[in-house]
Amino acid sequence: MCGIVGYLGNREAYPIIIEGLKRLEYRGYDSAGVAIYDGSSLKVSKTKGKVADLEQRVESEISSNGNLGIGHTRWATHGVPNDINSHPHTSNSGNLVIIHNGIIENYESLKKELISRGYTFESDTDTEVLVNLIEDVKLKEQVKLGKAVQIALNQVIGAYAIAVFDKTQSDEIVIARLGSPLAIGVGENEFFIASDASPFLEYTKNAIYLEDEEMAIIRLNKDVKIRKIKDDSLVDPYIQELQISLEQIEKGGYEHFMLKEIYEQPKAITDTYRGRLNRQQGIVKMSGVEDNLKKFLNANRIIIVACGTSWHAGLVAEYIFEDLARIPVEVEYASEFRYRNPVISEKDVVIAISQSGETADTLAAIKLAKSKGAFVFGVCNVVGSSIARETHAGAYTHAGPEIGVASTKAFTTQITVLTLIALRLAKAKGTISDSKFRQHLLELEMVPRKVEEALKSDTHIRMISDIYKNVRNFLYLGRGYNFPVALEGALKLKEISYIHAEGYPAAEMKHGPIALIDENMPIVVIATKKGHYEKVVSNIQEIKSRKGKIIGVVTKGDTQVKELADHVIEVPETLESLSPLLTTIPLQLLSYHIAVLLDKNVDQPRNLAKSVTVE
Ligand code: F6R
Repeated sequence: MCGIVGYLGNREAYPIIIEGLKRLEYRGYDSAGVAIYDGSSLKVSKTKGKVADLEQRVESEISSNGNLGIGHTRWATHGVPNDINSHPHTSNSGNLVIIHNGIIENYESLKKELISRGYTFESDTDTEVLVNLIEDVKLKEQVKLGKAVQIALNQVIGAYAIAVFDKTQSDEIVIARLGSPLAIGVGENEFFIASDASPFLEYTKNAIYLEDEEMAIIRLNKDVKIRKIKDDSLVDPYIQELQISLEQIEKGGYEHFMLKEIYEQPKAITDTYRGRLNRQQGIVKMSGVEDNLKKFLNANRIIIVACGTSWHAGLVAEYIFEDLARIPVEVEYASEFRYRNPVISEKDVVIAISQSGETADTLAAIKLAKSKGAFVFGVCNVVGSSIARETHAGAYTHAGPEIGVASTKAFTTQITVLTLIALRLAKAKGTISDSKFRQHLLELEMVPRKVEEALKSDTHIRMISDIYKNVRNFLYLGRGYNFPVALEGALKLKEISYIHAEGYPAAEMKHGPIALIDENMPIVVIATKKGHYEKVVSNIQEIKSRKGKIIGVVTKGDTQVKELADHVIEVPETLESLSPLLTTIPLQLLSYHIAVLLDKNVDQPRNLAKSVTVE
């Protein structure tokens, strides 16, 4: 959570920082701030609210400009979102200024110690404690900023990505990371710092990603010095060339990132299977799987760990792996798995799914599984992310940057990758016939076109959204492969429209939720032809006799559900195992339109952040 930007060079720092913060606002958006040093004075401006609020305030507060600056967009952990708790925070002397993403867990004891030594605090944040701790070390030990940061961080328990500078040495920024991402953009005689590369893409494509427990001392006209925080050893900086374009992270004419990302799914799915699936030759190949095929084939079981939408993709994968490859699968919330002393052995394969690759709980689950000897495979969207680096091997989803906080194309591309893995394993194990295998490849290649067709219901879905936008509760039902889709549909609606919604396996309805049904309750039922269709039709009849409002997601040409339902949304026919890739689309659009009609902030829903780097 929280976005960090910094600049050190010869350009004006402020415009770079403010534009960078706008791109990072998906990471947190309850407050924002900047600190700019112009060679003689340090100006700090910060406010509760969005980056746009900050921009207004800056106009009156920062008149001069400078070539050194840092900025922050916040998702509060310690201290309510208000002006004072916003970052940057300055030290008591007024010389040091810091931005921080993460949590300092032992901040209270550090604060007590600093208070006893005469330090005072304005805010309730752990970050203000950290900047004063650094200052205290610097003065006590008579060391430079870099050394002071290192000594201070060795006293800290928690997670952080920080950027700090000392106005008395304005050619230097010191940064450090443990558990929260941090990248350095390396330009010609200039440096950019950011939580991800998006703020500096138009200036440089050369980036260094800091690893956990590393810090960097960035000095103008000098090289970047990277050191291990624990033992001070020097690390060779690895500068990589970024492949991502600026265009990829902009809205491209859509009203919201979420809508753009929904519409990008045909391309994202194609990009994800391209080069991995060859229908003519009848093969599926992914280097991460090929190199570790034996581990997968000898596994007693696969354990999938993930959170939120990625966990739903894991549930879909459970059906695919068990169905096609006949490998037992358990799907776990990473947050539960990491704390419940799970039984894991070297014979287990763990698959960690994460769009951002930064989710703290998933990362911790991976570390736990590795410590027990399991082979851990990652499915991530963000290249070079912490999870991608922490896992033994993996396969990227090629969804492109996902900016809207509600995950859409990440979900469908995760399912695509997991399907490819299941097919590869099924083929190797001989649990799938040649013709079924080929049929899957053929159908998978047709999915992008079918997603395009499903997207054509957009206007119809908007009309349905208008009818139900003011209800307070929704129910989502599905069976088999489409049970996780029901969960995902409900989650999407909750996240962005703040309407309460629950997803259930359709048959479970009569064990409780049926009591909720009356003429005011809309129920979205996924009733495609190939998934226990007749049984779902019976469930629809049960709803109908209790006067519930039925929104059916059906296979194109369906007549049976059409007769019973109040509304139907058609999706093209496909294999049952691939149907989640299509049935998800109308549910994404439904939640999107309801949220827009209710005038909610679709891309940045309240209380949420795109990458959850705290537990
Ligand atoms: C929902 C959503 C979240 C994430 C969850 C895990 O739309 O985006 O539920 O899926 O926070 O995030 P990742 O996949 O980045 O690990």
